[in-house]
Amino acid sequence: MLFLFALSIAQNALAQHPHGYNGWKGSCTASPKCRFAPAYTEAQILANPEPFICDLLYWEGHFTQPGIGFNGANAMTYDGTLLNTTTGLADAYESGQHNFSAASKESLHVMLLAHALAGDASATRVVSPDNPAGGQQLAFHTMEQKLASYLFFNQTFPGFGGFLPWFNNTLGQPLRPTSDWVNRVPALDNGELLWAVYAAVHVLQTSPDPAFRTLGSGWQSWLDYTKRHAAAIFYRGNGKVCAVTTLNQTLLPTDPKQNYTCEGIDVLNDPYEGELFAWWLYFFGGLDEVEKGAIWVAKRAQLVGVEYTNQNGSGLGPITVQKGFWFSAHEQWKVLEMPYYDVDIVRRVFTNAERVRTCNSASLGIPGMYASVNNVTDATGQIIGYISNAGVPSVANQTLQELDVVTPYSVFPTLLVEGGWGRRVGMVWWWNMVRARKMQNPYGSTESERLDGTAVSSFVSWDSKVTTVVALLGGVSGFVRVKMMEEGIYNEFINVTNREYSRVFTDLEGEDVALCLPIAAVPDAGLADYTDCS
Ligand SMILES: *[C@@H]1O[C@H](CO)[C@@H](O)[C@H](O)[C@H]1NC(C)=O
Ligand SMILES: *[C@@H]1O[C@H](CO)[C@@H](O)[C@H](O)[C@H]1NC(C)=O
Ligand SMILES: *[C@@H]1O[C@H](CO)[C@@H](O)[C@H](O)[C@H]1NC(C)=O
Ligand SMILES: *[C@@H]1O[C@H](CO)[C@@H](O)[C@H](O)[C@H]1NC(C)=O
Ligand SMILES: *[C@@H]1O[C@H](CO)[C@@H](O)[C@H](O)[C@H]1NC(C)=O
Ligand SMILES: *[C@@H]1O[C@H](CO)[C@@H](O)[C@H](O)[C@H]1NC(C)=O
Ligand SMILES: *[C@@H]1O[C@H](CO)[C@@H](O)[C@H](O)[C@H]1NC(C)=O
Ligand SMILES: *[C@@H]1O[C@H](CO)[C@@H](O)[C@H](O)[C@H]1NC(C)=O
Ligand SMILES: *[C@@H]1O[C@H](CO)[C@@H](O)[C@H](O)[C@H]1NC(C)=O
Ligand SMILES: *[C@@H]1O[C@H](CO)[C@@H](O)[C@H](O)[C@H]1NC(C)=O
Repeated sequence: MLFLFALSIAQNALAQHPHGYNGWKGSCTASPKCRFAPAYTEAQILANPEPFICDLLYWEGHFTQPGIGFNGANAMTYDGTLLNTTTGLADAYESGQHNFSAASKESLHVMLLAHALAGDASATRVVSPDNPAGGQQLAFHTMEQKLASYLFFNQTFPGFGGFLPWFNNTLGQPLRPTSDWVNRVPALDNGELLWAVYAAVHVLQTSPDPAFRTLGSGWQSWLDYTKRHAAAIFYRGNGKVCAVTTLNQTLLPTDPKQNYTCEGIDVLNDPYEGELFAWWLYFFGGLDEVEKGAIWVAKRAQLVGVEYTNQNGSGLGPITVQKGFWFSAHEQWKVLEMPYYDVDIVRRVFTNAERVRTCNSASLGIPGMYASVNNVTDATGQIIGYISNAGVPSVANQTLQELDVVTPYSVFPTLLVEGGWGRRVGMVWWWNMVRARKMQNPYGSTESERLDGTAVSSFVSWDSKVTTVVALLGGVSGFVRVKMMEEGIYNEFINVTNREYSRVFTDLEGEDVALCLPIAAVPDAGLADYTDCS
């Protein structure tokens, strides 16, 4: 079969370059052209993905700029922005700016900035595409401004205890909760933010520059403050963690009238990205050993193994994976932030997930992969809806899915597969999605596209873009690991993670299967590329 042929290319590339290219020292094209993807071939990317990655970083960096990805006045992210459907420019719609955001998007920004603060050349290329030499200093100023915004928000709305709700980030106005998050705060997004800041603090505090270390102390104070009220706000005893807490945002956490209550029956017990918040409570919530143990007991029923077998008579499988909620790539976020891959069984189970993600799409002739994402935009340029339920139904808890739209960021967990081949195969999938019409714009990759090629989402967002960028930077688990060791919590993280995953996973099937490459392209259905990126 065709896709088996494609596989053998990947294996040959792996055999020739067993160590990957993470230490690549070649030079990047200073100003690559906007529509660079169609100029590359799959074979070029497989042989050495780094020149392609250089171009990607340069253009995604046009999104992570003041006025586009964040508000230059307070360094706080915007969720994203609509693009003019003809030009691809972001300034065309009066209300195109999503002038609101959440802790999850902040997490992506801070992860990027952490690497730039460390002086990583790939990260400074994103932060400051046309002057990478200034990227480290720019990241410093952005983090300084951002901390001031977090502290000001905390002063204005002390009831949040330092945590962030979805916030309204309108130019010239103070940050405040969006209308639907007044007096409410989510756990999951804050867990993502906290470990990202933890990474950035490590970089700042170990810098030779005293100004960096001072800023690190400022951020550490904010982190420490979130620890103080974390349990009061989110923990209800016996392992129960609120998914969303209702509160009075104007009252101090310690005010006798403050009444933190779990909203509805939703609890945070998922074995996916929500786990980042569970760890924060576990290590820093001031809980006793019984309560700490109870958090994991409460989560256990959700951590389930399942065997993938291909539905298409290809004979692929069984491959053992952790059952997804939808098996959306978004669910793998936690491995960007904490050193999960130090636990062998986790690394193996997550590598199997990418065998399934890539080979499922390849064997079904799907030209991209799935993740929760904004739907395409309609004739008036507005987003039709949000497609949460996109993944691989046969290995998911939620089997009713909408599978007509794919998104470039679905590759981010593939990129994290170790040994260099994840980086190459992941990049080929990304290339295969963005070479389709309209999938590159003046701010890098476009949000999402229909499989039939009839429409794209003329939108750019942190979720659909910077997840990929941060994965290419290796996530921040390397910084987090060192700080966890210094704080004496690393071994416990390893032990507990190993205990929980080993209860469920012993012998894995399918570890000999190679990652698959795409065999199909999105058809040309007559869309025209954006005029400002053609
Ligand atoms: C998109 O840009 C074109 C070309 O500048 C312009 O004519 C059109 O009005 C813009 N569309 C919107 C919705 O602003
Ligand atoms: C913020 O966005 C909303 C929704 O798009 C819009 O109605 C509002 O005008 C925007 N405000 C500013 C100041 O941009
Ligand atoms: C944000 O604030 C602006 C200005 O007050 C308002 O027009 C907009 O509707 C708000 N958006 C959200 C999502 O709360
Ligand atoms: C947050 O605000 C409260 C109330 O004003 C204050 O006590 C606390 O120190 C603030 N936290 C930080 C990190 O500044
Ligand atoms: C929050 O507390 C203030 C001060 O006690 C009170 O005026 C306000 O009504 C409370 N808000 C809610 C939503 O309970
Ligand atoms: C706290 O809030 C919950 C739900 O909003 C309510 O049922 C409960 O009575 C409140 N408790 C106090 C002490 O006000
Ligand atoms: C199986 O995959 C091939 C492409 O490899 C595709 O043409 C065919 O429609 C698929 N069959 C099913 C049942 O999905
Ligand atoms: C996505 O858009 C398609 C039309 O392109 C529509 O059929 C589908 O219902 C939409 N789904 C969501 C969740 O918005
Ligand atoms: C989905 O998860 C719920 C809660 O753990 C469980 O009761 C249900 O059986 C699961 N369904 C599938 C199809 O995995
Ligand atoms: C981790 O597990 C090892 C081996 O079982 C044990 O020796 C060690 O004390 C544990 N460390 C922590 C911090 O739990």
